[in-house]
Amino acid sequence: MLTRRPRGTNDVLPVEAARWRALESHIHRLAAAYGYGEVRTPLFEHAELFQRSVGQDTDIVEKEMYVFVDRAGRRLALRPEGTAAVVRAFLEGGLSAAPLPVKLYYAGSAMFRYDRPEAGRYRQFHQAGVEVLGSSDPAADAEVVALAVDLLTGLGLGGLEVRLNSIGCPRCRPAYRERLREHYRPYLDRLCEDCRRRFDGNPLRLLDCKVDRGPAEAAPPLTAFLCDECTRHFRALQGYLNALGLTYTLDPRLVRGLDYYTRTVFEVTHPRLGAQSSLCGGGRYDGLVEALGGPPTPAVGFALGMERLLLALEAEGLAPAAPAGPDVFVGAAGDGVRAEAMALAARLRRSGLTVETDLSGRSLRAQLKHAARLGAPFAVLVGEEELARGAAVLRHLERGEQEEVPLDRLAERLAGLVAGRRAREGSAG
Ligand code: HAM
Repeated sequence: MLTRRPRGTNDVLPVEAARWRALESHIHRLAAAYGYGEVRTPLFEHAELFQRSVGQDTDIVEKEMYVFVDRAGRRLALRPEGTAAVVRAFLEGGLSAAPLPVKLYYAGSAMFRYDRPEAGRYRQFHQAGVEVLGSSDPAADAEVVALAVDLLTGLGLGGLEVRLNSIGCPRCRPAYRERLREHYRPYLDRLCEDCRRRFDGNPLRLLDCKVDRGPAEAAPPLTAFLCDECTRHFRALQGYLNALGLTYTLDPRLVRGLDYYTRTVFEVTHPRLGAQSSLCGGGRYDGLVEALGGPPTPAVGFALGMERLLLALEAEGLAPAAPAGPDVFVGAAGDGVRAEAMALAARLRRSGLTVETDLSGRSLRAQLKHAARLGAPFAVLVGEEELARGAAVLRHLERGEQEEVPLDRLAERLAGLVAGRRAREGSAG
């Protein structure tokens, strides 16, 4: 028990952590290129924020939220998603008074959902996402979809499918809801328990039922019920996406598991992800800012699952490379010079090299073995005699040769060797 992490959580150990950092840097770079500012919100919020935003009768709020009461009796929830918290921060931080649209992103934020864990589905997972607040223009939707695709293809991922739909607005959706209830009424007996419960309150979610796809396949398409404004918006979005050369599939059955969406919804899937194929999902949420007490502020965004992205990259053999070993190992030839070796290692690090040194009091032989295991191409051996001459021995571990180098020229000599080695590796790979 004490050596087992909680179900549905993951440790990120060093090799893996380097991959995460590579992904996060890619996201920070891309977000900057598109002009998005980073936002970091708390891991927990008032539970009511998510009830109001994501929707009371969604799986996320009904079954998956980690809710707890703090010592002062507040009902709090570990955040199950980022959008509601970003909107809260947008309002609380006074950003609604800034020139609009305000373009925000988060990269690798932890989210929590009490879901059934399997490959690609966890109870603590991480999302990167963007939110554009303050534009109803379909160009904003297009930028958000393009950014998602750019982010994924920029990592070399192929085989992506972008599915796109419009789920209308509060003006045109009620008629469709009614039509959908009519369509589903004859099937009521065979619907799953969740669907039967949602039949009255949230019939759109019936289209997403995984238990029986039959009734959804036969359902009338929502797009046939869109009002003129929603139709114009959806067409204009497609026009932008075509101009950007983006390939997408129109999927009239695509609805999302969160209630705040209006008009555009989209998902990006990857074929190698199995059951949890959705890498990224998002859409427009024109009513959310106002529902949380802000001024009318149309908005659009997406979030992608970092763990799923790493799984997709691994499946394609595209996972960022594991970190290289140290440039140099500084060894001490005897206990009497360990402090000098440590001081030399510190000086070499300040010159920009990555340096390992002995922390276990090993013999020199054992230190050299350890250096080879770490993958260091060079070792500097600090010995009393050489120190007295103001020098140290530099050993080329791969070639088995060694030379004596004056201490004041050591950093420069090593930097040259390391650069030469990197250049050779670069041209070989
Ligand atoms: P979502 O579709 O619930 O949307 O989640 C977005 C992505 O997070 C999914 O496509 C998936 O990659 C990942 N994800 C979700 N649940 C899990 C899980 N249990 N384990 C691992 N990965 C998971 C949202 O969260 C919206 N806030 C997106 C959005 C932003 N819409 C507008 N702006």
